[in-house]
Amino acid sequence: MRTYYIAGNWKMHKTRAEAAELAGALVAQLKDGKHKYLVAPSFTLIETVAPIVRGSNILLGAQNMAPEEQGAHTGEVSVLQLKDLGVTTVILGHSERRHIYKEDDALINKKVKLALRHGLEVILCIGELLEEREAGRAEAVCESQIVKGLEGVEDLSRVVIAYEPVWAIGTGKTATPEDADAIHAYVRRLIGKLYGAGAAEKIIIQYGGSVKPENAAQLMAKENIDGALVGGAALKADSFVPIAKF
Ligand code: 13P
Repeated sequence: MRTYYIAGNWKMHKTRAEAAELAGALVAQLKDGKHKYLVAPSFTLIETVAPIVRGSNILLGAQNMAPEEQGAHTGEVSVLQLKDLGVTTVILGHSERRHIYKEDDALINKKVKLALRHGLEVILCIGELLEEREAGRAEAVCESQIVKGLEGVEDLSRVVIAYEPVWAIGTGKTATPEDADAIHAYVRRLIGKLYGAGAAEKIIIQYGGSVKPENAAQLMAKENIDGALVGGAALKADSFVPIAKF
């Protein structure tokens, strides 16, 4: 049995005071939650949020990471710095990194391998653009992002996949549970081909893209949807908690 994994990606939102308030509310309201939980605040907020979630059932994540351990990389944040703050998980390959900041699969793969080498859990984001979906290429795009993103990775025990169709992110348009599940099933079959049936059965595949309290349960009811990576609705306890406790 896979555990449901509900993660909040706070993106570029919140001051330290706001982050502390949200983290505190989540710790209090999710303490009896039955699933696996994560919050991923901006780098500048991690040190504030870390002591609040420590010892709770909420893991501490980061939204990105440099591809090198340390060195002359102005403006970047390293895996060592993240681990120093108690970060256990890093989101990599988010569509905003791919499309706004032009990160390619080779760069993402380098980050994935570095994070895993340092014992972090990786949430690898994949997903197609609207024009790719309309051209019937959704599966091929996701397959390529997985194959290239995981190149050279042998052990998937600390890898989570998040399927986030780009056209559903922040748009209010959620993929239907059936459409999302079809891609999730495709991804699971692909993992089976690449890593064997055991890995395919175990891997957590989150859905992301306009997940809300109103649609979380229908999405999670699908066989291959094992959790959610939540953006907008993760910014308030009032909307994240009902998703987390769907
Ligand atoms: P929204 O939930 O705001 O659509 O964002 C999804 C997302 O990108 C999470 O990483």
